[in-house]
Amino acid sequence: MPASANDEFKTTDLMTMTDPHPAATGPCSPESLAAAVAAGLDAVARAADLAELASVRTAHVDGRSAPLVLARRALGELPREDRAEAGRRLNEALATVRDAFTARLAELTAARDARVLVEERVDVTLPARRRRPGARHPIAVLTERVVDTFVAMGYEVAEGPEVEHDWFNFEALNMHPDHPARSEHDTLYVEPEGAGRVLRTHTSPVQVRALLSRPLPVYVVCPGRTFRNDTIDATHSPVFGQLEGLAVDEGITMADLRGTLEAFASALFGTNLATRLRPSFFPFTEPSAELDVQCFNCRGEAARQPCRVCSDEGWIELGGCGMVDPNVLRAAGVDASRYSGFAFGMGLERAAMIRHGVREIRDFVDGDIRFSLPFGIEG
Ligand code: FA5
Repeated sequence: MPASANDEFKTTDLMTMTDPHPAATGPCSPESLAAAVAAGLDAVARAADLAELASVRTAHVDGRSAPLVLARRALGELPREDRAEAGRRLNEALATVRDAFTARLAELTAARDARVLVEERVDVTLPARRRRPGARHPIAVLTERVVDTFVAMGYEVAEGPEVEHDWFNFEALNMHPDHPARSEHDTLYVEPEGAGRVLRTHTSPVQVRALLSRPLPVYVVCPGRTFRNDTIDATHSPVFGQLEGLAVDEGITMADLRGTLEAFASALFGTNLATRLRPSFFPFTEPSAELDVQCFNCRGEAARQPCRVCSDEGWIELGGCGMVDPNVLRAAGVDASRYSGFAFGMGLERAAMIRHGVREIRDFVDGDIRFSLPFGIEG
């Protein structure tokens, strides 16, 4: 049966296009555009801050799937005669949404700026928060200075444990079990009882450790913390620093010890101060001596004017020293018939007290920055 003319039109129409009047019903239709504008204006009005407004821009103004952007793309598909009118409507719609967007952007930017001005206000009249300079501990400064002096003379720095085995602290240094220094009055023992562990009472055990672990000749200095069961007073502390020195080589004599200590004393207290070795006793050196430095304050003139630094002695004791006892060399496996050596040990707090006229050893541990500051800035 032949199809009617009307049927023919409808079939063609359905085959070639989905909308017989796209300008009236598609995305560019007045209804679609009005709906897009309404949705855009509503979203712009509801944007509470700049971040939300940025999303509105993508969704309604110029994002790829914004209805008005899709409508512009659909414009080209309209019949030629409808395009001008639809384009005009579209431009109007876009301008309406853009204008609303621009106005809201200005509004929200002004609100943000006003808020930032309040929230980030800086009161330039407030007093500045000043960071006071810190200070290095005077004992650290002094230790570094003394160590530098010896390093310049070719010494290495050696270290040992603070919790030491009593063999290193006593026996290897010629202090036998009945030596008075091993009494509990002098020494702090570490639990468990009988384990033979002590808080080292001096830095001399590092002599032995250095001799056991280094090839000869040995030239070392060892700064470190030491511990004694001493009651605290103006010049004694149960925890104090010592600096040990040891030189073991062929042909070392007491003259080398004397020259070394003189160089060290002048680096610490200035040149032209005499030093003297005063006979003394240490179980691990033979002969032994105390090292005295001429008082830097009265320069040995104490007989003529009273001096509080040296208590009118004219001399200040710095530490002990002597030629390493051959027994100590042998305990460390050194051939005592070929090698000889000297050793010295001095108290770091005492040296600092002498150097800076500090009267109380406690000042070093009080942690008062006003005490440390003048020492800490020393180079
Ligand atoms: C000794 O400790 C020896 N080991 C030093 C030594 C080393 C001698 C090498 C020979 C060869 P003495 O017990 O004298 O020696 O202590 C040395 C220095 O440590 C003293 O001169 C003093 O400056 C300091 N000292 C001792 N006990 C205290 C203390 N309780 N508080 C602060 N400083 C102290």
